[in-house]
Amino acid sequence: MKIAVAGTGYVGLSLAVLLSQHSEVHALDIIPEKVEKINSFRSPIQDDEIERFLAEAKAGARKLDLHATVNVAEAYTGVDYAIVATPTNYDSDRNFFDTSSVEAAITAIRSVNPTAWIVIKSTIPVGYTASLREKLDDKRIIFSPEFLRESKALYDNLHPSRIVVGAPKDDEEAMKAAETFAGLLAQGADPVELTRTNADGTTGIPQLVLGTTEAEAVKLFANTYLALRVAYFNELDTYCEVRGLSSADVIEGVCLEPRIGGFYNNPSFGYGGYCLPKDTKQLLANYKDVPQNLIEAIVDANRTRKDWVAEQVIDRVMQLVYEGKPKPVVGAYRLTMKSGSDNFRASSIQGIMKRVKAKGVPVVVYEPTLDAPEFYGSEVTHDLARFKAECDVIMANRWSDDLADVAGKVYTCDLFKRD
Ligand SMILES: NC(=O)c1ccc[n+]([C@@H]2O[C@H](COP(=O)([O-])OP(=O)(O)OC[C@H]3O[C@@H](n4cnc5c(N)ncnc54)[C@H](O)[C@@H]3O)[C@@H](O)[C@H]2O)c1
Repeated sequence: MKIAVAGTGYVGLSLAVLLSQHSEVHALDIIPEKVEKINSFRSPIQDDEIERFLAEAKAGARKLDLHATVNVAEAYTGVDYAIVATPTNYDSDRNFFDTSSVEAAITAIRSVNPTAWIVIKSTIPVGYTASLREKLDDKRIIFSPEFLRESKALYDNLHPSRIVVGAPKDDEEAMKAAETFAGLLAQGADPVELTRTNADGTTGIPQLVLGTTEAEAVKLFANTYLALRVAYFNELDTYCEVRGLSSADVIEGVCLEPRIGGFYNNPSFGYGGYCLPKDTKQLLANYKDVPQNLIEAIVDANRTRKDWVAEQVIDRVMQLVYEGKPKPVVGAYRLTMKSGSDNFRASSIQGIMKRVKAKGVPVVVYEPTLDAPEFYGSEVTHDLARFKAECDVIMANRWSDDLADVAGKVYTCDLFKRD
């Protein structure tokens, strides 16, 4: 099997590495530096498993049939499947979901390959694949939602919770292509997953072939459920803070109920990252003319949480002013959403920074992965000692032992010291 992957970000690169264990994979990106890195076995993103696989391939200890390129003909000519893993963004002010990179990739694929099965892996609005198949009069486009987490991208594809592929139920050829694609993903998974026992008693990785629109809905509803859970424990935490209860004790007591479970329950500054904010807003937009209360409440709850967190930080600043400190400085410790990540797209701390700066309070950022002198007008430093000395209040979405010596300055909601 020959497979092309358009886009070598978290989704594209993890899939390219996974599939290159058993198939010939051509990965295309529009950024030459990324391509050069991949071809010299260096990962352009922080991901332990991708780094390990590439290092082992370089040392000859692992066989990966992977070649990266910026050349459309080289990447897409003669491949059986072309996976599209390019960025998509939602602009809630204009109610506009930007799928232009997906369309650009499809145009490029079709310019040299009229027959490859195109599998969209990017997150897209509900109904998009069906409308694109019709608009382009192209029956060889299917969709497969991606469920990986950033910084665990390859790990999650080696150990997938489930494999979902969407194809029109009345198109036998597309259904077959979807099943074959699901099989390719399963083939790349860690062999231990093929014999695992699932909670419902079944064995192996569950593989679902659904309609394209249902598969698109699965992705948005799954992410919105995760956002709901984050928002729920955050609102619990706000309540406990305001009423003077121990939030950790309440969460522990609540989560010992097995139907709730003691995971994904650590309070934060809000849900954030590349996917949850845009996917929840996209789902809400898809509800147009459909009754709902909850989906909107999830989006609103995240805003309310950030407003409240920012108020707590500003209260601390005001207290310092009251005590005689003329111009307190607030520090943002890391812009990343999770520890172990190098990505801070739409991280919730940025929302807190924006609110704090709107009150005229200067913010300094400590972010070692950001190579720029400033971030939205705030100074960026890599000098942790100076950062800790100069900042009067330090906001940290996630606690780090690096801050232990200035714990009194730190504002965090991280109760359990994990993501
Ligand atoms: N990051 C996640 O955790 C995650 C999880 C599930 C789904 N998704 C979805 O998958 C998609 C990709 O996400 P990502 O995090 O991998 O994005 P990313 O920004 O990390 O990577 C996208 C890559 O595509 C490249 N690109 C842009 N236009 C291109 C084109 N026309 N042809 C080839 N390459 C092109 C970019 O240079 C970049 O390297 C998005 O729709 C996202 O919502 C992301």
